Amino acid sequence: MDLSNRTVLIVGGTSGIGRELARRFAAAGSTVAVGGRSPEALAELAEEGFGTIGVDVTDTASVASFRDTVLARYPELDTVVTMSGVMLLEDLRDPAHFEAAATTIDTNLLGTIRVIDAFTPHLVRRGAGTFITVTSGIAFLPFPPMPSYAASKAAVHAYSEALRAQLDGTGVDVVELVPPAVATAGQEKVNPHALPLDDFATEVMDLLGTEPTPREILVDRVLVHRWAERDGTYDELVAQRSQALAMLLSRQGQR
Ligand SMILES: NC(=O)c1ccc[n+]([C@@H]2O[C@H](COP(=O)([O-])OP(=O)(O)OC[C@H]3O[C@@H](n4cnc5c(N)ncnc54)[C@H](OP(=O)(O)O)[C@@H]3O)[C@@H](O)[C@H]2O)c1
Repeated sequence: MDLSNRTVLIVGGTSGIGRELARRFAAAGSTVAVGGRSPEALAELAEEGFGTIGVDVTDTASVASFRDTVLARYPELDTVVTMSGVMLLEDLRDPAHFEAAATTIDTNLLGTIRVIDAFTPHLVRRGAGTFITVTSGIAFLPFPPMPSYAASKAAVHAYSEALRAQLDGTGVDVVELVPPAVATAGQEKVNPHALPLDDFATEVMDLLGTEPTPREILVDRVLVHRWAERDGTYDELVAQRSQALAMLLSRQGQR
């Protein structure tokens, strides 16, 4: 896709990957609006020149009024990125994990669906546009300390595939961004192997800029996760990643 002349909405663009991609799209020449909950982060981005609109993707009424504000300000909107997400650890032996599971599914899966539902009529009416959904390498290769997260991202993958099929012929494309571990949201402190945000964003923009745009945006680092099942490395990698269960505090001393 041509990255220089789009009107892009990044829902969940107030920090991390979303904020960096907002800056990259703007640097490439596109008009960019950002949504999210944090008023402080939105104010900072407004200072940088972005359009900013508050939204909580777990709240259907909030998403509806967000949609109305966005479309009034950006009637030419052609690209919607569903970046909002939470990444929570859960110990499944502790029933208290359910709250994290509910928040994860409400934000990552239902939040994505709420945003897509809100903007589908507009994009279909235009007859051209792109949804960029956001999953994770963890959608394809579970990371056992984050079970509901993995489930939510596997679900967004499946949903993206169905959405693409249902929108076929409308002119609206569906692109799935599949990040590996990227050094954001505190990951840089716990995962020394996380990809630097700058490198990740550069690779993503290169891939998005290719014609035709790939259905899945797969940076090099995520290929090992994306194709583990096909490559026969799945069991070995899940076992390796299960060692990270030691990070669940409540398990310490239990083994
Ligand atoms: N970093 C990684 O290693 C990695 C790997 C694979 C996939 N991902 C995915 O990439 C996306 C961005 O992650 P990140 O690493 O950039 O994390 P981040 O810095 O924590 O960003 C998360 C974004 O989601 C927004 N958000 C969270 N809950 C929301 C809600 N209820 N309503 C609206 N917005 C909400 C946050 O904005 P507010 O707090 O302002 O609402 C923020 O802008 C997520 O979907 C994540 O699952 C990340």
